[in-house]
Amino acid sequence: MWAILRPNSIAVVGASRDPSKIGSRILRNILSSGFQGVVYGVNPNASEVLGVRCYPSVLDVPGAVDLAVVAVPARFVPQVVEECGRKGVKAVAVISSGFKEVGNTDLEKEVVEIAKKHGIRILGPNIVGVWDTRTPINYSFIDANPLPGSVAFISQSGALMTSLLWWTRERGIGFSCLVSIGNRADVGEADLLALLREDPRTKVVAIYIEGLGLGEGRKFLDEALETSTVKPVIVLKAGRSEAAVEAIRSHTGSLAGSDEVYEAALKQARALRAASLRELFNWALALALSPEPGEGTAVILTHGGGAGVIAADVLNGMGVPLAPLPQDLQERLRKFMPPFGSARNPVDLTGMMTAESLRGALVEVLRDPRVGAVLVWAGQGAIPTPEELGEAVVSAVREVGLAKPLIVSITGGGECREVLKRLIQAGVPSYESPEDAASALAAVYRYYRRRRERKGEPARVEGDRARAKEILGRARAEGRVLLTPVESFEVARAYGIPVVEYAFAPDLETAAKAARVIGYPVALAVETPDVAHKTDVGGIALNIKSEEELRAAYAKVMEVFARNVPKARVFGVSVRKMMPRGFEAFVGARRDPVFGPVVSFGWGGVMVELVRDFSLRVAPLTQDDIEDMIEETKAGKALKGYRGPPLDVEALKNIVASVASLMEDFEEISSVDANPIFVYEKGAVAVDVKVYLKA
Ligand code: COA
Repeated sequence: MWAILRPNSIAVVGASRDPSKIGSRILRNILSSGFQGVVYGVNPNASEVLGVRCYPSVLDVPGAVDLAVVAVPARFVPQVVEECGRKGVKAVAVISSGFKEVGNTDLEKEVVEIAKKHGIRILGPNIVGVWDTRTPINYSFIDANPLPGSVAFISQSGALMTSLLWWTRERGIGFSCLVSIGNRADVGEADLLALLREDPRTKVVAIYIEGLGLGEGRKFLDEALETSTVKPVIVLKAGRSEAAVEAIRSHTGSLAGSDEVYEAALKQARALRAASLRELFNWALALALSPEPGEGTAVILTHGGGAGVIAADVLNGMGVPLAPLPQDLQERLRKFMPPFGSARNPVDLTGMMTAESLRGALVEVLRDPRVGAVLVWAGQGAIPTPEELGEAVVSAVREVGLAKPLIVSITGGGECREVLKRLIQAGVPSYESPEDAASALAAVYRYYRRRRERKGEPARVEGDRARAKEILGRARAEGRVLLTPVESFEVARAYGIPVVEYAFAPDLETAAKAARVIGYPVALAVETPDVAHKTDVGGIALNIKSEEELRAAYAKVMEVFARNVPKARVFGVSVRKMMPRGFEAFVGARRDPVFGPVVSFGWGGVMVELVRDFSLRVAPLTQDDIEDMIEETKAGKALKGYRGPPLDVEALKNIVASVASLMEDFEEISSVDANPIFVYEKGAVAVDVKVYLKA
């Protein structure tokens, strides 16, 4: 894998004699990027291109080849990769287009299979190339290089990467590497995360994702989580998952669009999710240059109330603490402002601010250990000039050093941009707008806060696998996609989920006997594998208080149900104890084509879709994941005692863990829906459970 970023020897396959062609441009870029290793050309029609010796095939190259960069028409790529395999090449970057992106899926598969056979890693196809500023190397077909720095950028879109190269250069943002992964037929985000985690030069990994491949989600999540413990991972996720989302039949499952699953997975991975490209790079810049915030409050240092308030709003909105400064520090700061200034926080040096007073106040807050981070905002005015503002900041930093985050915003005309760039080069993340600066500082806080969170113990429930397997197997043998209510209860119980007391009754007399044992009041539900939502078709009778009522209800339920759904099979009824109403929660799960089992928790009951108060996590879950799921919802707050005693959250957590484990253990289950679950002061009981199988 390292051969992708740090090759010692490269062969450019398709090194064209025509300088306008991509193969020629790549060769030229490699030569002019300062690459110190050996470069060969491969072109059957040339013996030399741009002074580089060419060979008819990679097999003819005399020395070893770490990396082959391939720029020949798609149809020739399988043969080229085969030859690379025979040559012992470690990695192949396929620049060529014309694969999966235009429907040539088989050709792409063929390339990957050949590569696998030889143990070669494939980058691409359909990529613009790679830049690594340490090696240094540029094997893209763009003749421009990023500024060296410590952000690694991985992108599915080559065009986007290229345009950002110019944009970030303009702003002074530097990179350790840029890796275009194109169709990501083999090397994907997860592989690169594992690699870049080990790269001391990379301080932040920024990723642009359009969609992960089928079933790849969990691996990505695990690598991102592992990486987040050592360096920030920032993700911009655009578009929808490539996979067609399975038809979702359970209520709870239908709440979860694929974007919500990405959102949950990124949280679990402790990655930061940026909402725009601007945010992605603003945050990356701040995180690449900033140390961890200190213990104390963040400080806003400004010379105008407005921007201070704007920045304070952004920081507060993103959970960054802004407390009044200690009195003695306020006293010291007052030396740098007129009597009508404010030393509380935001610190307002007023329109009387000079470069000297800004410098003096900044030195004070940077030095004081009770200040955790500093945000400076200054607007362009007559005095001081943007130049002088920039110099004041640099001079303060030179004096005190940067042991805490310092983020600067200078707002004004074109002159400011040059100053901002110089500040960035001096190691101070700087932005035009106060909102961007505040959002970047908040991202620094968010990252370090998440990093400190525990990873959590796995939340596994070892269920009675054999029992669940038997029930699921029977339903599958009958070609069913839905378990009957009683079967669903049985499976739930096998995994320790407390369910309402129930009994199966094939006929009226058995039902009457069961009701006597359970005790009135009871409910009756038609036992059928064909209808999930029985209330809608008259298949349920509630609150039956006597045997007389039971007999009448039985007759009515059977009659109405048969009239409404004449084709549905009826095995009898289930008799269930009527439970006293508790707080109504739900726990559900479905299988996401990208991430696998996804578990949901939320406010349950018949209004579940209207209320839409739920959280998601990708299984396997940790205890912390479950804790977070509950915390995130209003239901969680209600459960902890809202206008009433606290309810049994622990019992509910166990149900979440059980549902997750059930989904992990049985691939054949497509979704589970326990709704409602009545939660009491002591205990929780699932009143209805639906288990669906894959078609
Ligand atoms: N091995 C080595 N060299 C070969 C070869 C082979 N099997 N087959 C052909 N060549 C040589 C050719 O002789 C030619 O060299 P020459 O100009 O000196 O004769 C060179 O390779 C290029 O081949 P050519 O057929 O002229 O292709 P091209 O340069 O027009 O196009 C691609 C090749 C890869 C650039 C093109 O197919 C492509 O995919 N373009 C899109 C790339 C892209 O946009 N990527 C994604 C960005 S996000």
